[in-house]
Amino acid sequence: MKTLVVRGGRPLCGTVFIHGAKNGVLPLLAATLLSNEPCTLDGCPEITDAACAAEILSCLGCRVGRCGERICVNAADGTGVRIPRELSGKMRASVTFLGAMLARHGRAELFAPGGCVLGERPIDWHIRALEALGVTAETDGQLLRFAWKRRRGGETELPFPSVGATENLMLAATGAPEPVVIRGAAREPEIAELGCFLRDMGAEIEGEGSDAITVFCSKPLHGANRRVLPDRIETATYLAMTAACGGDLSVRHTDPSLLLPVLEALERAGCTLRCLDDSIRLVSDGRLRGVGSIRAEVYPGFPTDAQAIVTAALLRAEGLSEMEDAVFPHRFRHVSELRKFGADVRTVGSRAVIRGVARLNPANAEVTDLRGGAGVLIAALAAKGESRIANAELLLRGYAALDTYLQKLGAEVFFA
Ligand code: UD1
Repeated sequence: MKTLVVRGGRPLCGTVFIHGAKNGVLPLLAATLLSNEPCTLDGCPEITDAACAAEILSCLGCRVGRCGERICVNAADGTGVRIPRELSGKMRASVTFLGAMLARHGRAELFAPGGCVLGERPIDWHIRALEALGVTAETDGQLLRFAWKRRRGGETELPFPSVGATENLMLAATGAPEPVVIRGAAREPEIAELGCFLRDMGAEIEGEGSDAITVFCSKPLHGANRRVLPDRIETATYLAMTAACGGDLSVRHTDPSLLLPVLEALERAGCTLRCLDDSIRLVSDGRLRGVGSIRAEVYPGFPTDAQAIVTAALLRAEGLSEMEDAVFPHRFRHVSELRKFGADVRTVGSRAVIRGVARLNPANAEVTDLRGGAGVLIAALAAKGESRIANAELLLRGYAALDTYLQKLGAEVFFA
């Protein structure tokens, strides 16, 4: 277990270069399984979730090589159909390999997917939507077994635009002999990115980024190269840190258009923002004001992944702020950790209610989940004095070079 020691209370000044998106690289890695030819992904962040996805590919028989931010996958011998229990349990996105294995081999086996505990995280919609395409699913209580005995296309519909289920269906659909129409699809940028990659591989894709996606694959997919899109949540995290601590931050290699609701919230809180095509500058004097109500929703709404992060930035904002989560209504495990810093924040149903306090005190706290943990880190950075954050290895699931980036911005942070 790693502990992150934070000596907070300093402004953050300087430049960070945003990495490729965690939630972008994972489905792209799963997609490399669909071709017998090599694929190359650039801009892969050095985070433990990407390492776990690469390990899953290796376990399935693929040859995987990493050189810096480039991952090359040759899935010619990727004949495996079972993700071992240890890897299934390590991260939620292990479930995305289900669609890829079904497309490639007509069957797939995995254990209950792991990942951050964000309240209930079932995969019932994945299963029902795959069943509509003729996939059968059975379980002995632990191992989930899927088989596509008679492949068929057609229409399948999601009751809610689940990101993971949409990705799974897109991947599975490349193995259908007829077009597949996915209705009620998620519209997150990472889905559009997966659509582009599948198109680069030779699939016919229409409507990615809308709520109805059509996938058709009339011939075997070939290899392709792609650069992973910038991480909008990593971007939001560094902006929120600077908002909370005060400072002058330039975020480069990002895409402001992917996080407009977060930028609006930070502006409302009193930060000054200037955006160019691929960069954002944020200036904050650390004295923020409450923003009223924010509701985390599916894209293009305020992202649920930025919910805890912006909550933490608002702990010292004068007045009232409320953060509701309509995507994961129980995603509030960080709230009790934030209170350890002397914050006045509590959960009411699916909302966190924040009354800004004049100052935060250093504390011993822990990382509850990846983004909740980023929120805890923000509180520690804003609290003058030494805080210790346990379970900090969880942060490395989604933040590459976290300590060195923060040190470059002037923070005193190190892993113990
Ligand atoms: C993905 C992201 C995660 C982000 C989330 C929402 C990855 C690796 N993770 O997670 O960072 O917070 O999208 O933007 O990309 N649900 C069901 N049944 C299902 C599937 C989902 O009830 O079969 C529910 C979930 O419990 C949740 C909601 O639907 O309440 C949204 O989940 P979903 O969009 O599927 O999130 P993930 O794909 O797990």
